[in-house]
Amino acid sequence: MKNITAICPGSFDPVTVGHLDIISRASKMFGNVIVVVMTNTTKSPCFTVEERIEMLRKTTAGIENVSVDSYYGLLADYAKKRNAGAIIKGLRAMSDFEYEFQMALTNKKLNPDVETVFLTTSVQNMYLSSSMVKQIGSMNGDIRDFVPDVIQDEIIKRLQERAR
Ligand code: PNS
Repeated sequence: MKNITAICPGSFDPVTVGHLDIISRASKMFGNVIVVVMTNTTKSPCFTVEERIEMLRKTTAGIENVSVDSYYGLLADYAKKRNAGAIIKGLRAMSDFEYEFQMALTNKKLNPDVETVFLTTSVQNMYLSSSMVKQIGSMNGDIRDFVPDVIQDEIIKRLQERAR
């Protein structure tokens, strides 16, 4: 699979250690991994697209075959544009599965050249989500175990400012 470009799409609002685990495992499987900040129309983000890109860049700086991008539009179209063969998704629990399965089938219909590959979350991240990080951080809780070290301070600062 080293000759395949893979895409890791998501809102990344903000990136968590769970995302980083999936990105880093994908980077060992595929030759080239593009992490792309996309729009989830069901969510209103806390961080701007530029902030999320910057946090992802800092977080993935040590992984040579990973790059970061953003795209407003359909994931299937982005995959076509980048000639990607795989979309990587992390699955935490059965509750993720129905929604992810529906998205995978829709993306396959829209772009038959791309396969969705599900990676099982690492057990320590099973309960982790960006929404949980935002909720804990905005109430002065300790989020240090949940977000990558290099971006902890800026996330804490922003969440506390927002909560005021
Ligand atoms: O991190 P998230 O919010 O679970 O990521 C979801 C995301 C952004 C990957 C998904 O909403 C998406 O693919 N958005 C782009 C628009 C699109 O292609 N929608 C149709 C997919 S069925």
